[in-house]
Amino acid sequence: MKRDFIYIPACVSTNDELKSLVRGSASPVTAVLRAGTQTGGRGRQNKAFYSPEGGVWFSAAYPLTGKETNVPFLTLLAGLAVCRALESACPAPYRVKWPNDVYLNGKKLCGILTELCASGGSLTAVVGIGINTAVPAAAIPETLRGVMTSLQAEGLPCPGADAITRTVAAMLDHYVYDCRALYGVTAEFAALLNARSYLTGKTVTVENASGVLTGRVEGISPAGLLVLDTAEGKREVRSGTVNLEC
Ligand code: BTN
Repeated sequence: MKRDFIYIPACVSTNDELKSLVRGSASPVTAVLRAGTQTGGRGRQNKAFYSPEGGVWFSAAYPLTGKETNVPFLTLLAGLAVCRALESACPAPYRVKWPNDVYLNGKKLCGILTELCASGGSLTAVVGIGINTAVPAAAIPETLRGVMTSLQAEGLPCPGADAITRTVAAMLDHYVYDCRALYGVTAEFAALLNARSYLTGKTVTVENASGVLTGRVEGISPAGLLVLDTAEGKREVRSGTVNLEC
């Protein structure tokens, strides 16, 4: 995949910025857009995502063919790409927290927000990735200190933002285009994800439109669903907000 890498010092949200590009273009957009800081970074359920100078905030466009069978898997693949890119740049036990975070030492290091953008009769998936790299511990707001971390706060060296963006995008492109991972051939990715799954073995509640489920996490299925061992038996959850039970 040939990609244009665009850098802007600041914007409200790289997802919004890239979606405007997609909507304003007559041909499919395959850009990766990175910002030095975001004034209105967003996460799931429209929650504010803190994006100060020093972190890596970017979005990558994936024009869809309409034949993909598992587009939501893109978010988990992005988490896997972040883990693997960071593992080679600054080794540490990075973990994918289903469905859209990367954790380090029990705290959130990275969040991922995948949104669909309709334009000219076709759909583009915009994958937004935010990684707390060179964010000093003192710059982490007090309200987030117990739950969020950064490479710098963990005493790790910080790879350059441009380099890490390009490595993550290249890995994700490899999964999507070379391995065709959105077309259902996902068992090898499930293995890579399960080797890094933060929730496996933990008891959680998952809340989604169907209700609330409590159970012990067995892992991530080949289709990217969270597998829970509940009082009523094994259940697979497609989406939802996960809370850890004490
Ligand atoms: C979450 O924590 O729920 C997901 C956070 C996703 C943040 C990234 S940073 C780049 C892109 N732009 C945004 O506004 N959000 C994503």
